[in-house]
Amino acid sequence: MKHLRSIDELGAKGLLELLQLTVHMAEINQRPVPKVPALRGRTVASLFFEDSTRTRLSFETAAKRLSADTLTFNVSTSSVNKGESLRDTVATITDMGADAFVVRHKSVGIPWQIEQWTKASIINAGDGAHQHPTQALVDCYTIREATHTARFDGMQITIVGDIKHSRVARSNIQAFTMLGAKVTLVAPPTLLPPDVSHWPVEVNHHLDDVIPTSDVLYMLRLQSERMSQGHVPTLREYSEQYSLTQKRVARLRDSAIVMHPGPMNRGVEMQIDPSDIKNSLIHRQVANGVSVRMAVLFDLLGSGANLGGQA
Ligand code: NCD
Repeated sequence: MKHLRSIDELGAKGLLELLQLTVHMAEINQRPVPKVPALRGRTVASLFFEDSTRTRLSFETAAKRLSADTLTFNVSTSSVNKGESLRDTVATITDMGADAFVVRHKSVGIPWQIEQWTKASIINAGDGAHQHPTQALVDCYTIREATHTARFDGMQITIVGDIKHSRVARSNIQAFTMLGAKVTLVAPPTLLPPDVSHWPVEVNHHLDDVIPTSDVLYMLRLQSERMSQGHVPTLREYSEQYSLTQKRVARLRDSAIVMHPGPMNRGVEMQIDPSDIKNSLIHRQVANGVSVRMAVLFDLLGSGANLGGQA
């Protein structure tokens, strides 16, 4: 594998291989010194044109644990503000020896565009509302870890909220269905794409209908920064119908798990603190982010050797 830009491109086989490799990375992360020399001499550049906390920090942590060098590009203090183009920025960082770019950008398709300007590997860390493949890997790994099942056959996964603007939803729908899950989307019609008839999902506009039958309840953030017009009449109305509340959590199956990719909008889609939810995996999603991104970097840049030694 040279690039990781979408779940589609990765395919079911690639998905399963990366999830398996993540198990080894999680084992490294349990060690007193969680560092191996696997990517010594390799350089990973993060190119984030959109805000990020978890994704950027977990990629950088992952690179460091594999002994790669890291280059962090900060758009607000870069020559982009002097008018430098994306193409020239990528060429400059390539000249400095970057072996991989971790890219986040508001425009759909940027990871495919950048590939034409560099010989480095490209990892999509989110392109507009299109794809966020490493988040889908994190979520599949986290569900596997919690349920002790490799495949999700017969599992009912409900994704709730702002589907329209969510790259996480698009990547997760593909990954969850590749592993055998049944996916239901719950949102008001205004927060769904105009046509989802070709997506492998069911749609329901009423969260309360699907609460008792969900094995996984996956909450999404309302992405106000991507909204050009009012997609919800009022926040209060949206919260009333689509937020997770104490009352709704009480109606979940005993074994049902709750997830959220973060960042959370407390008081909007989350009216309950995750620590008050018995089976919340929200902290596991963050913790597993490092192991998953180590697996991705190792797969793209590693030679296959060096996983066992000391850094
Ligand atoms: C998501 C993203 O940026 O797409 N966050 C993340 O990567 N953990 C989801 C979001 O911003 O709502």
